[in-house]
Amino acid sequence: MSTRKILVTSALPYANGAIHLGHMMEAIQTDIWVRLQNLLGHDCVYVCADDAHGTAIMLSAQRQGITPQQLIDTVNADHQKDYAGFHIRFDNFYSTHTLENRKLSESIYKTIDENGHIAKRHIKQLFDPEKGLFLADRYISGTCPKCKAADQYGDNCESCGSTYGPAELINPRSTISGATPIEKESEHFFFKLPEFKDMLRTWTRSGTLQEPVANKLSEWLDDELQEWDISRDAPYFGFEIPDAPGKYFYVWLDAPIGYMASFQNLCERSNYNFDEYWKVGGDTELFHFIGKDIINFHTLFWPAMLTSAGYRTPTAVYAHGFLTVDGTKMSKSRGTFINAKTYLKHLNPEYLRYYLAAKLSSGVDDLDLNLEDFSLRVNSDLVGKVVNIASRCAGFITKGFDGQLSSELDNPLLLAEMQTAKKEITDHYQGREYGKAIRLIMSLADKANQYINDKQPWVIAKENKQSEELQQICSTGINCFRLLIIYLKPVLPEMAAQAEEFLDISELSWDDLDSLLLGHEIKKFKPLMTRVEADKVLAMVSETQAEFEASQIDIKPPTDPQANDSSVPFEPEIDFEDFAKVDLRIAEITDATHVEGAEKLLKLTLDLGKDLQGETITRTVFSGIKAAYDPASLKGKLTVVVANLKPRKMKFGLSEGMVLAAGPGGKDIWLLEPHEGAKPGMRVA
Ligand code: 2FM
Ligand code: ZN
Repeated sequence: MSTRKILVTSALPYANGAIHLGHMMEAIQTDIWVRLQNLLGHDCVYVCADDAHGTAIMLSAQRQGITPQQLIDTVNADHQKDYAGFHIRFDNFYSTHTLENRKLSESIYKTIDENGHIAKRHIKQLFDPEKGLFLADRYISGTCPKCKAADQYGDNCESCGSTYGPAELINPRSTISGATPIEKESEHFFFKLPEFKDMLRTWTRSGTLQEPVANKLSEWLDDELQEWDISRDAPYFGFEIPDAPGKYFYVWLDAPIGYMASFQNLCERSNYNFDEYWKVGGDTELFHFIGKDIINFHTLFWPAMLTSAGYRTPTAVYAHGFLTVDGTKMSKSRGTFINAKTYLKHLNPEYLRYYLAAKLSSGVDDLDLNLEDFSLRVNSDLVGKVVNIASRCAGFITKGFDGQLSSELDNPLLLAEMQTAKKEITDHYQGREYGKAIRLIMSLADKANQYINDKQPWVIAKENKQSEELQQICSTGINCFRLLIIYLKPVLPEMAAQAEEFLDISELSWDDLDSLLLGHEIKKFKPLMTRVEADKVLAMVSETQAEFEASQIDIKPPTDPQANDSSVPFEPEIDFEDFAKVDLRIAEITDATHVEGAEKLLKLTLDLGKDLQGETITRTVFSGIKAAYDPASLKGKLTVVVANLKPRKMKFGLSEGMVLAAGPGGKDIWLLEPHEGAKPGMRVA
C-alpha cells in the first residue's frame, strides 16, 4: 500500500459564537476519518480556522464595546480549547484574518480579474442612514407584502412562505438601528460563475460528491447560473479589495481561502510544501467536510474560483446533515442548544464521539442526539461490552499469572474471525459509514462476551487460579479486547491510550490488527470508562437552560415570534395578594457598564433611596438591554425596579432585582422612565 498524502478540512466556524454540539459533530466526523488515515499509515493533515470576517462580527464587537481583533482573538482561544476538549486533533487551527489569508485572497482575486472573470456594475440596495451601513436581507424586517404578517425578514416570510426583495417589505426597518432604510446605489464586483458551467458539470460528476448532492447540483446547473457578488462596501470587517478603496471582499470569498492560508501557515513551520497540495496535477488529495447548508459555496463558487486562479480542485466534498437533539432542532430555551464547553463540564467527550460515530453515515440526513438513548447506548456498548471484556479477564491474569499472558490461546479461531473483519470495518470507515463500522465492531464484542460467558473463567479460577486453561481463556479475552480497541481507536483515542498503558504496549496502529499479544506482561486493570450518569446529562441540560435565561434576563420575548407586542397572550390571572407582594420602587441608575463576554447584558448600579439609618440602598442588577441602550446614556435616569425579587446568581455575578422595560426585545426595548416628581426609593403603587 502506498502512502497517500491527504489534506482535510472541516468548515470554519464563525468567530462570534461558541462552539456547540452541531459544530462538534462535524469536527468529530472529520477527526475520526483523519485518525483512520493516519492509523493506516497515510500522511493525513487536518487544518481548520476561525471564519473571522463579516458584518455580524463587526456588529458583535461593537455591541460588546471591543475591537473586532479583540473579539476574534478571544473567540479563537476559546474555540481551540473546546475542540481540544473533544480530542479533535488539528494540525493547525488558524484564522481568516491573517497575513497569509490576505495575501492569498488578493492574489487569487487578481488572477481571477486578469482572466476576465470579474464584472463590475452598480446595484441598488437598502441602506441604514443612521448606521451608515448597507443592509443584508437578514438585517431588515418589516411587514410581509403578501400576508401582512409583522416582523418578517427582508427575503422571505416565515408566516406564509413567500419570497420577495427587501424593498417590497411594507414599513421596512433596519434591525440594527430601527431606522427606515433608504435605497442607495453603489458599485459591486461579481465573479462570473456562469462561465464555469461546463467545468462544474464535469467536476460535479467526477465522483467528487455524494449522489444526492450531485443531483441537486445538476438541477442548479441546468438552471441559469447567476454571477456571484463578492464585494461589500465599508464599513465592513474584512480585507479591502486591491485598488478599490472602500470595497471589501465578501466574507464568503476569503473564508474557503482560509483553508489554504491555514495550511500555508502550517507549511511555514513544518516540512509540508504548499504547492505540492495546491498546484494542479500533483498526487495529493484534498477533502472538505461541510454541513449541507453550505454546499453551494463549496461545490460551485469554490471549485470555479480555484480553477480560474490556477489551483487544483477538491478531490471530494463530503456534506453531512444537521444535529437535532431529542428529535427537534437544537433549542436554547429547551436547553438543547448545548455548547461544547457546557457538555465538557459534565460529561466525558468520548461518550459523544462514540454515540455520534454509532449513528453517522455517509449521507446528508440529520442525526438525532437522543439524550436517553445516548446514556443507554454508551453504557451498554462501551462500558457493558468492550471494557467489560478486559475487566472480566484481567484480574485472573494479574492474580494467577503475575500479569503474564499465555503464549498459546484457548480460541485462536475467535481471534482470527475478529481479524478477518478488518477489511470490512476499514471500508466502512473509509466510506464514512461509521454506524456500520460500529455495528460490526459491537457484534464482535458480543461474540467475545459470549465466549467468556461460555467458558466461565470464574468457575475454573475457584478450583485452580493457576490453571493453564484459565490463562489461555483470559488471554484470548484480552486479545479480543486489544483488537476491539484498535478498531475503536479512530473514535476513542483517549480510551485507546489508556488501554495501551494497561496492556503495556506502544501506540497501536492498524497493522497491529494482524498480530496478537502473546507471552506478554500486562499491567493491573483500571476501569477505562465509567457509566454515563443520568443526573449529569440533566445537569448539562439545566445549565444550558440557565445560560439562556441569564442572557434573556429582564426581557420576556413574545411567545409567538410572529406576534407583535400587543398581541402577546396574557399570563394567567393572579390574586391581589400576589400582586401586593411585588415591591416596585423608583430607582436611579447611578452607573451602567458593559459586561465582558455577555451579549445582551448591561450591569446597572441602582440607587433605591435611603434606609432607616439614612444609608443609601444600592443594588446591582444585570439587565438585557444592551442592544437598546448605550450605557453612558443611562446614568442619572430613573426607572422602575422590582425591589424584592430574590437575588439570582448569574454567570456574571449576583443580580439583585429587576428593572422594568417594555417592548418586543432586542433594540426595541424601552426602560420605564417615570418623570413626574419621582425620587429614588419611592414606592410604585
Ligand atoms: O457556515 C459557516 O459557519 C461558515 N463560517 C463556514 C465557512 S467554511 C469555509 F468555506 F470557510
Ligand atoms: Zn407572509
